[in-house]
Amino acid sequence: MRILAIETSCDETAIALVEGHGPLSNPRFKVLKSIISSQILVHRPFGGVVPNLAKREHLKNLPVVLDQILNTKYDIQDTDFIAVTVGPGLEPALWTGINFAKELAKKNKRPLLGANHLEGHLYSPLLSLKEKISLPAIGLVVSGGHTILLLLKNLENWKKIGETRDDAVGEAYDKVARLLGLSYPGGPEIERISRDVKPKIEFPRPMIHQKNYDFSFSGLKTSIFYYLREHPRASKKQVAASFQQAAIDVLVAKTMKAARNYKAKSILLAGGVAANKPLRQTLRQASRKQGLRFFVSDFKYSTDNAAMIGAAAYLSHLRGKKLRITAQANLNL
Ligand code: KG4
Ligand code: ZN
Repeated sequence: MRILAIETSCDETAIALVEGHGPLSNPRFKVLKSIISSQILVHRPFGGVVPNLAKREHLKNLPVVLDQILNTKYDIQDTDFIAVTVGPGLEPALWTGINFAKELAKKNKRPLLGANHLEGHLYSPLLSLKEKISLPAIGLVVSGGHTILLLLKNLENWKKIGETRDDAVGEAYDKVARLLGLSYPGGPEIERISRDVKPKIEFPRPMIHQKNYDFSFSGLKTSIFYYLREHPRASKKQVAASFQQAAIDVLVAKTMKAARNYKAKSILLAGGVAANKPLRQTLRQASRKQGLRFFVSDFKYSTDNAAMIGAAAYLSHLRGKKLRITAQANLNL
C-alpha cells in the first residue's frame, strides 16, 4: 500500500510517501520520500512554539512541501490513501493539516485516514527495522509533550503502565535549556554542550525508587532553578550534563525495571528525545546487559516527521481502526 502522509501537529510541516507491506505480525515499510520543513527559526525568538504562527507557517509550507514530494516520479493517483495526523497536538496546527488533507483527498478521490501522532512515534522504529521485534516489549515514548511507558503484547495490543505526572522529559530539557540561556528547542542544545563533560552535580532522580512506572520531571527542573540561583557562576556545561544524567538515569531505571517485571524480550525507544545519543547508548547498553533486544527509531524519524504517520496509518488500516477526521488535541495512546 502506498500512503501519502501529512503531519502538522506542532512546528514541523512534514509530508512523506511511504509503502507499507505485510501483515500486523510482521509489517515492513519503505519510505519513498520524506520531507520536513522546520519552523524552528520562526518560533525561536519566542522561546517555544506559538500556535497561531505555527498555523500560518503550515498554511504557507504545505503546498510547497507537497510539490517537492509529488514530482514526475510520484503521482498522487498511485497512492492507496492519504493519512493525516488528527492528534495529539496544537489545535490550530492540527486543523491546517486536516483541512489540507481533506481537500487533497476530495480533489483526487483518494480515501483519507486519520493517524495518532503518538502511535506514529511508537511505530517509528519499524521504519528502519532489520529484524522482527521480539515480544512482549516495553516501549518508551519520550517527546516534548509526552513521557509514556508501555507494555506491548504485540503491535496492536498494548497497555500504558506509566507516564509523567507533570512535565514531559522533552519539556524538562527545553525548560532547563531556557534557564541556562540556550536557544529553543533545548534538547539538542543541552546534549551538545554536555558532550565530553563528566556530570558531577547530584540532582534528584524523581520517583526512581518508587514501585510504579510513573515519572516526574518538574521537580528536577525546579532544583536546577534553585541551584543556578545559589551558584550564579556555575559552569553551564556541568549543570546541563548533570541534569541530563539525572533524567536519563530515571528513564533507564524505570524502563529496565518494567522489562524485568513484565519479562519483556525487547525495548523500544521513540519520540523526539530518542534523538539523544547518551539516552540511546545508555538504554542500549542496559538492554544488552539484561539480554534484551533494543530497537530505536532512526535519528531522522525520532523527532516529528510524516513517515511515522504513514506507518501509524498503515497499521491502523490493518487493525481496522478508524479515527475521526477532526482535531483531537488531547488524543493519547
Ligand atoms: O517528538 P518531538 O519532535 O515533538 C513532540 O511530539 O513533542 O519532540 C520534541 C522534543 C523537544 O522537547 C526537544 O527538545 C526534544 O524532543 N529533543 C531532544 C533532542 N532532540 C529533540 N531532547 C534531547 N536530546 C536531543 N538530541
Ligand atoms: Zn512528536
